[in-house]
Amino acid sequence: MQVTAIYPGTFDPMTVGHIDVATRASKMFDDLIIGVAGDPSKKKSPFFDLEERVDMASRMLSDLPNVQVRPFSGLLVDFAAEIEAGVIVRGLRAISDFEYEVQIAGVNRHLSPTIETVFIAASQDFTFLSSSIVREIAKLGGDYSDFVHPVVTQEFERKLNA
Ligand code: COA
Repeated sequence: MQVTAIYPGTFDPMTVGHIDVATRASKMFDDLIIGVAGDPSKKKSPFFDLEERVDMASRMLSDLPNVQVRPFSGLLVDFAAEIEAGVIVRGLRAISDFEYEVQIAGVNRHLSPTIETVFIAASQDFTFLSSSIVREIAKLGGDYSDFVHPVVTQEFERKLNA
């Protein structure tokens, strides 16, 4: 049986932590769809627009043959049904992620009982990392190159110097 999984997120921007989770998940499932959320639950609008986030993620993950990057809006479980994904992948960085992630997994299972959420422990090297930390360092002129793929550094430079 072919298993398609979806790894959803805002990815504003995708960090090396996300790439690590996506790479490991790509080895566990036949197909992995990276679902880039168009209308994230966060209050502030994203720094990178949806098209930019999808484009960057596609370029960064292009060496993984069973991975595709797709935008989505609306409910995650509806998008998962549309692409016939039976598994949602989420990364766990620390115990502080656990409560929120278990809550969301419960909501998604309630909405769609056949979908399973699988958690992947994020790399120990980057448990402190988040997209907002990267955005803050970039805007304040610090060195964030250890935290992102060069594609993201180039896009930050382009946008911040525009
Ligand atoms: N490495 C680095 N950072 C990581 C990480 C990792 N391995 N795993 C998570 N993060 C960070 C992200 O960078 C992000 O940081 P930020 O808040 O500073 O920007 C934060 O953890 C959480 O981001 P992410 O994993 O992208 O999740 P999200 O909360 O942005 O996305 C959705 C949540 C989009 C999956 C969720 O809102 C969703 O499913 N929305 C669709 C609507 C829906 O179905 N709602 C019903 C369920 S609630």
